[in-house]
Amino acid sequence: MATIDELKRLAAQLAHPSGEEGLRLAQMMEETNYGMTKQAWHALSVQPGQHVLELGHGNASHVTPFLAANSNVHYSGLEISTSMHQLAMQVNQASIVSGRADFRLYDGQEFPYPLASFSCIFAVNTIYFIDDPATFTTKLSGLLAKNGKLAFTFATKSFMEMLPFTAYGFNLYEQEDVLRFADPDVLTLHSIIRDKEMVLSKNGDEVEREFVTIVWSKI
Ligand SMILES: C[S@@+](CC[C@H](N)C(=O)[O-])C[C@H]1O[C@@H](n2cnc3c(N)ncnc32)[C@H](O)[C@@H]1O
Repeated sequence: MATIDELKRLAAQLAHPSGEEGLRLAQMMEETNYGMTKQAWHALSVQPGQHVLELGHGNASHVTPFLAANSNVHYSGLEISTSMHQLAMQVNQASIVSGRADFRLYDGQEFPYPLASFSCIFAVNTIYFIDDPATFTTKLSGLLAKNGKLAFTFATKSFMEMLPFTAYGFNLYEQEDVLRFADPDVLTLHSIIRDKEMVLSKNGDEVEREFVTIVWSKI
């Protein structure tokens, strides 16, 4: 059984992976969360010629296969974690060199892109760590071009609160909470996808995780 300090340490690493421990955790997250990331990508129905932004990409080993399956799409990745930023650039070096992907680091506040830069924006398992998600959602909608899509993919509060580390620094939500983040004058609801899958918990047990992708369209 993990101590409170161990749980706090794990929660802090999930919010902002760093060092050797962060790199190990990133590998584990990519394997455990690939189904959620795939759901977000599919929910956006990314089209040729589009420019996609992901926030909180972790190690980003999903990016090269996604780009291989979607010709003429450009991917931009944005992180607050220097370790994840550097790892993502190593993992996706070929896509960067071929001009199909770029990665940037920021302070979690000021987005380093001009308004209306993207056709699609998504974030998977990242919304838990945003202090003011309604303001964050509004700022993100400014980065979308007209008719662009924004997707948040997250595991439900009822599932997440069973995991002991989420007591430390996680903000947990049900679908109806996340729906309220969007300003209806700017974003209109496009779709909601719910799914369940069996995943390995951090202590090695199989658990059923319920997760949701909410997609809005920029008016
Ligand atoms: C739990 S991990 C999820 C990683 C990956 N998306 C996944 O589902 O496996 C959360 C990630 O979001 C990043 N993150 C946290 N706050 C962020 C923010 N404000 N903007 C961008 N990334 C952020 C963290 O550095 C971390 O890599």
